Parts: sequence; structure tokens; C-alpha cells
Amino acid sequence: MDSFEFNKIAGAVLGTLLFVMGLGIFSDALFHHAPPKVAGYNLPAAEAESAAAATPAAAVPLPQLLAKADPKKGETLVKPCSACHTFDKGGANKVGPHLYGVVERAKASVEGFAYSDSLKSKGGKWDYEDINAFITNPKGYASGTKMAYGGEKDPARRADIISYLRTLSDTPAPLPTPAKAP
Ligand code: HEC
Repeated sequence: MDSFEFNKIAGAVLGTLLFVMGLGIFSDALFHHAPPKVAGYNLPAAEAESAAAATPAAAVPLPQLLAKADPKKGETLVKPCSACHTFDKGGANKVGPHLYGVVERAKASVEGFAYSDSLKSKGGKWDYEDINAFITNPKGYASGTKMAYGGEKDPARRADIISYLRTLSDTPAPLPTPAKAP
């Protein structure tokens, strides 16, 4: 092999190497992968799980909770309420007003019961959302309320309570329609 031929072969090899390297750089530029923020692989299943775990139960909308709620459970959960409230039709007022028909009842409207100004100033009817807000944290809902009750912090238990309150009526109000799951 003379040196001319050797140069041709070496040139071809070098050319090929350069071309392959160039291709690598070029395709890197085309398909740029950002380095992961956290080292490791993104496993889709694990991601879905952690997303579910990160969603607090409170984020479930009330209509959805009410659709699953159990009025029978609610009936036992209102034991602490019954220290101050009656639930039967024509029931007396105790420390608090009677709660028969409270869903869709005008707020602070039971005859002969001396409501706080705070609750009287609310106006409107007791819909599901408002009852939910009130029994979550009475003072948070109406700062000057006379209802000396700490609140039920568990959304599912509140939904059970509310679904029981709903049954205390000659014509129970319809349940809210849960929004379609996304
Ligand atoms: C320590 C007594 C006490 C307990 C326990 C209590 N309440 Fe009350 N509740 C009251 C009083 C007093 C009022 C009137 C509040 C005001 O005027 O500010 C009231 C008002 C209400 C109202 C508004 C009624 C209306 O006519 O506007 C609802 C609804 C209600 N309570 C539900 C409940 C539920 C449900 C529970 C149990 C989870 C409960 N309460 C526990 C004393 C109590």
C-alpha cells in the first residue's frame, strides 16, 4: 500500500468518525432531554399513587361525599349534637334550635329561639355547603355564634351527618349532583 492509498483510507475512516460524532451532536440538539430534577426513573404507577396520596380528603367536593354518605351513620354521629338539639318533628328548642327540616330552612328562623346576631346576620337558607362550613368550624363560619361546639373535622363524617339531617323532612331536598369526574 503506498502512502497515497493509506491517506485515502485514513481520510475515509476519519470522515466517518466525524460524521457519526456530528450526527450525535445534531440528534442531541433535536431531542433534548432535560435532566430529571430528582434522580431516578419516573414510574407512571408510582406517580399516580403519590398524586392520590397528596390529595387531601378535604379536596373531595361535598356533592361527591354526600353521594356516598350514610344517613344511618349520621344518626349515630349526631349524638354530640343532641346535647343541644332535638331532631324530631315539632321538637323543642334546647340550648340550640330544633333541627327538623334544617336543610333548606332559612337561617336563624326558628320561632322563639334567641339566635346570636352573628347567625341572624347571615341571611339565606341552610344549603348543604353552608351547613358543612358551619359544622366544620362554627366560629370560623359565624364568629359570634352561640353554638359552643368545636366542629367535626372529618369531611366524610360531616357528610354522614348532613345526609341524616336531610332525612329530617316531610319532603327531603334533592341531593346535589356530583360533578362528572374529570
Ligand atoms: C353545645 C351546644 C351545641 C352543640 C353540641 C351543637 N349545637 Fe348546633 N347550635 C347550638 C346553638 C346555641 C345554636 C344557635 C347558634 C347561634 O344563634 O349563633 C346552634 C345552631 C345550629 C344550626 C343552625 C340552625 C338554625 O336554625 O339556623 C345548625 C344547622 C346546627 N346548630 C347544627 C348542629 C350540628 C349538626 C351539631 C352536631 C354536629 C351541633 N349543631 C352541635 C348549640 C349546639
